[in-house]
Amino acid sequence: MKLNVVVSLLLLLISTATCCPPSDLRALLAFRSALHEPYLGIFNSWTGQDCCHNWYGVSCDAVTHRVADINLRGESEDPIFERAHRTGYMTGRISPAICDLARLSALTIADWKGISGDIPKCITRLSFLRTIDLIGNQISGEIPNDIGRLNRLAVLNVADNRISGSIPKSLTNLSSLMHLDLRNNLITGLIPTDFGRLTMLSRALLSGNRITGRIPESLTKIYRLADVDLSGNQLYGTIPPSLGRMSVLATLNLDGNKISGEIPQTLMTSSVMNLNLSRNLLQGKIPEGFGPRSYFTVLDLSYNNLKGPIPSSISGASFIGHLDLSHNHLCGRIPVGSPFDHLEAASFMFNDCLCGKPLKACLKN
Ligand SMILES: *[C@@H]1O[C@H](CO)[C@@H](O)[C@H](O)[C@H]1NC(C)=O
Ligand SMILES: *[C@@H]1O[C@H](CO)[C@@H](O)[C@H](O)[C@H]1NC(C)=O
Repeated sequence: MKLNVVVSLLLLLISTATCCPPSDLRALLAFRSALHEPYLGIFNSWTGQDCCHNWYGVSCDAVTHRVADINLRGESEDPIFERAHRTGYMTGRISPAICDLARLSALTIADWKGISGDIPKCITRLSFLRTIDLIGNQISGEIPNDIGRLNRLAVLNVADNRISGSIPKSLTNLSSLMHLDLRNNLITGLIPTDFGRLTMLSRALLSGNRITGRIPESLTKIYRLADVDLSGNQLYGTIPPSLGRMSVLATLNLDGNKISGEIPQTLMTSSVMNLNLSRNLLQGKIPEGFGPRSYFTVLDLSYNNLKGPIPSSISGASFIGHLDLSHNHLCGRIPVGSPFDHLEAASFMFNDCLCGKPLKACLKN
């Protein structure tokens, strides 16, 4: 019994002593030497052999003693930023040496503004990765083609970079993916038609790219999807009516595309609370069918080719916080009712012949 305890204590000592295996140490040092951080000195703590203790932004797994997280954020609450009176800035690139950190589960190198170069292709070997967060840098090149191998990946965030190429086909193999953020890059090509295979996805943020083609119908099968932002792309085709039947979809931004056809009636009484369809080629009438289930913090249909009257059922909506119907071809009397009491003329301006409060009174005839 006693011997057992002594032996396990010894083993524990040995295992803590072998914290940060030489291969992980080598990889981190190569990673550091490809980066230049001139103002805060965050890498000053990266000294000695034991990368698992007090190395800024590095943490190790308690059991394997391998490097598990790299968490370097250029904008954070950390006192180091307050003392320096500035946010982070870093240049250089992400060294492929990180691919030797075989147990890495989170790679966050976010908001450093100046880091350039590619996402190392070999990153897809890191089968323990759950998070890739590289937002807010100057990273270019393409998303690795075989990204779909990372079957534990829950967060893929490369927003606000200079990523080009198209969304890899294999991406829809990421069966654990919950949060996809590709906003504000130079991504071209189509949204994969089998996008709906991402069954765990709750946020699909693809705005501000050069994505073309249609909104894949399969996307509407993703049960957990709450936030869809496809704005500022070159999408065309019509809005799938099944979008309005999704159970938890709360935000749907399709503004700034080339989407045509009519607005599906399903969207008027759906779970969507933030709906921006502005600056498209939508035509036909605003569908009737608003009711007590219609609750909008934002309903922006401006800059389309909508015609006809504003449906009278809109007075039956339970709430409309911000409404914008401007820059269409609407005509007729603006309905009265509580959802409208607070709205200003700007919500209705630049139409063909709308009248009534808050615009000019209608001519009696
Ligand atoms: C997706 O995964 C399946 C099964 O693991 C594999 O056969 C297929 O080649 C993968 N697709 C892509 C595009 O990588
Ligand atoms: C809707 O999208 C348009 C065009 O992208 C944008 O200008 C507008 O501010 C958005 N509306 C709201 C209420 O956010």
